[in-house]
Amino acid sequence: MTRNSKGEYEIEDCFQTAKTEVGLVQYQVRRYDAWYRHTTLAMLAHTYLAVTAPTPPTPRPTSPLPAQTHQKRFEDGTPLTVQSAAGSHNPVENDFSYDSDKLGQKCPFQAHIRKTNPRGSGGAEPPEAERLHLMARRGQTYGRRYDDPAADLPPAGRPTKDVGLLFMAFNSNLGNQFEFTQRLWANNPGFPITPDGSQPGLDPVIGQGERPGSNYSRDWGHSGTQPVDAIPQAVTLKGGEYFFMPSLAFLRSL
Ligand code: HEM
Repeated sequence: MTRNSKGEYEIEDCFQTAKTEVGLVQYQVRRYDAWYRHTTLAMLAHTYLAVTAPTPPTPRPTSPLPAQTHQKRFEDGTPLTVQSAAGSHNPVENDFSYDSDKLGQKCPFQAHIRKTNPRGSGGAEPPEAERLHLMARRGQTYGRRYDDPAADLPPAGRPTKDVGLLFMAFNSNLGNQFEFTQRLWANNPGFPITPDGSQPGLDPVIGQGERPGSNYSRDWGHSGTQPVDAIPQAVTLKGGEYFFMPSLAFLRSL
């Protein structure tokens, strides 16, 4: 049954492509033999296109895609510090450190995940103090998008208003959590402090300000870097509201 249903899907897919690419259903004929000729010619054109289509290049598993290196996990959630390819077991590993990656050869220093939570490797404070900047966070989209989010477009080709993302975070100390993380980590090109004193650059996801190009590891886990053009700023901080919540202790006392 599985084999048959897969075969059925392939046939549907084949007809769908023939309809959109070679005009399989765009005929204006009345007689059967005219319809037959049109269909035969369309399917012949479709066959020619399928046979001569270039084969897409196979991605190298050891080099994570640039989009993955901005955030530092493979699509299945495997942290890039753990292994060079996707394939983490479920649940994905979240309790990891950068101890095995002090030179930023697996997870770049400038990756969003490493800038906003250096897990004790930031170099500017003792790990216990660094940990106090963490906060519980959730994102919430707003507005309705009419563009294709998956299209390969520069930020200039994207909607500029009415849609976006609300970043929400619970803080017990705004100055030491959200404000600290955004200002002194994400927007600070010199954080985290690197062993060779080089500047990692802004957080590619949320950093606000001028972005020079920066260096990324050439091969996962190996020495050698390559310069990469600046990633265009896609997130613009528009403003925010601070809402006060009663503490758990207060709520319990009611
Ligand atoms: C449009 C805005 C944002 C997007 C798209 C975004 C996206 C993400 C994603 C995808 C992750 C998961 C990384 C991973 O586990 O691989 C993440 C983690 C995180 N983000 Fe953001 N984020 C945004 C804004 C912010 C802001 C404004 C802050 C703080 C100022 C922040 C702080 C964090 C922290 C602390 C983590 C956890 C890192 C860890 O698990 O080690 N994010 N973000």
